Amino acid sequence: EKAGFDHFMLKEIHEQPKAYRDTMGSRLSPDGSRVVLKELTMTEQQIRDIRNVHIVACGTAYHAGLIGKTVIEQLARIPVETDVASEYRYRSPIITPNTLVIVVSQSGETADTLAALREAKRCGAHVLAITNVVGSSVAREADDVLFTWAGPEIAVASTKAYTTQLVAFYLFGLHLAQVLGTKDEAFIRDMIAAMKSLPEQVEAILGQSEAIKAAAEDMSKHDDLFFIGRGVDYAVSLEGSLKLKEISYIHSEAYAAGELKHGTLALIEENVPVIALATQEDLLEKTVSNIKEVTARGGKVLGITSERYAQELAKSVNTVFTIPQTHALLTPALAVIPLQLLAYYASLARGNDVDKPRNLAKSVTVE
Ligand code: M6R
Repeated sequence: EKAGFDHFMLKEIHEQPKAYRDTMGSRLSPDGSRVVLKELTMTEQQIRDIRNVHIVACGTAYHAGLIGKTVIEQLARIPVETDVASEYRYRSPIITPNTLVIVVSQSGETADTLAALREAKRCGAHVLAITNVVGSSVAREADDVLFTWAGPEIAVASTKAYTTQLVAFYLFGLHLAQVLGTKDEAFIRDMIAAMKSLPEQVEAILGQSEAIKAAAEDMSKHDDLFFIGRGVDYAVSLEGSLKLKEISYIHSEAYAAGELKHGTLALIEENVPVIALATQEDLLEKTVSNIKEVTARGGKVLGITSERYAQELAKSVNTVFTIPQTHALLTPALAVIPLQLLAYYASLARGNDVDKPRNLAKSVTVE
């Protein structure tokens, strides 16, 4: 049932190209000009009436929601807040009938997420669920559902669910942009074309697994490490750090690169590994100066960037890992893949139970 892979996690990492194709599937018009979300009941008028969006989720799904915030704000210019579900309910969020609440959950059964959904409905908000499980509680109770067609995810560490949640946000963000007219046809066409290239680009990254494995084995000898990035790279860093902690039990922290010097830099000393994500052209220069703050103190930096900036980044890091060039908003859908592999191989090197990490359950149905 692991289809020749040693672990479900590795199998699921390798299923991502297919999961991308299945999730985009018939939701992109054949001529590549539009997103078509037939399953949504929300009318164009309901979309025009949205004043704000709340994204609510836990763990990895929350990290997808952080990317979702950038995607919706950039594409549709609607203000978005992303919250951890267990916090959301207790902070008296300002929910009105013009708030769209998006709950994100692979299993569709996470207790905190479900409770947030119910609270949002009670306040009169329209609730859209992004979930992987047809017939789950979240899918049944939400007003609208966008399914991620990732297929069953068995490993406790979420991989293909996260990446297909990103795809769901790209699709929904473009749908909003089409209705609201916030992006022109050329932009939408370009982004759709870039989305269609993602599956083969993921294949290309998977083809470089050996290089990541070597880096992971090196990393598995350390007890503390850091991830840094700006913008969407910061959100991907959070996910990379969670994945690593969850299955390798190596302590790591993810920081917005510009925040390092406000305290955490004190922890950087000779040989501390730092994984720096730098995929965004407009933030590259700033991230590079943060990387230099690290290398000046002896930190060892593994940089992850897109092809176009690899040469530039190579000047200031110890090792560069390159992802294929894509649209600026889509880089998380590629940049997370090497981080998933890093976590996987680090866990393996430490002799852990990759698919069933200690203390954790696949579906968290207690609050
Ligand atoms: O089923 P859900 O997406 O609601 O689960 C949320 C989290 O429990 C989950 O993403 C968790 O953080 C993963 N184990 C991370 O890999």
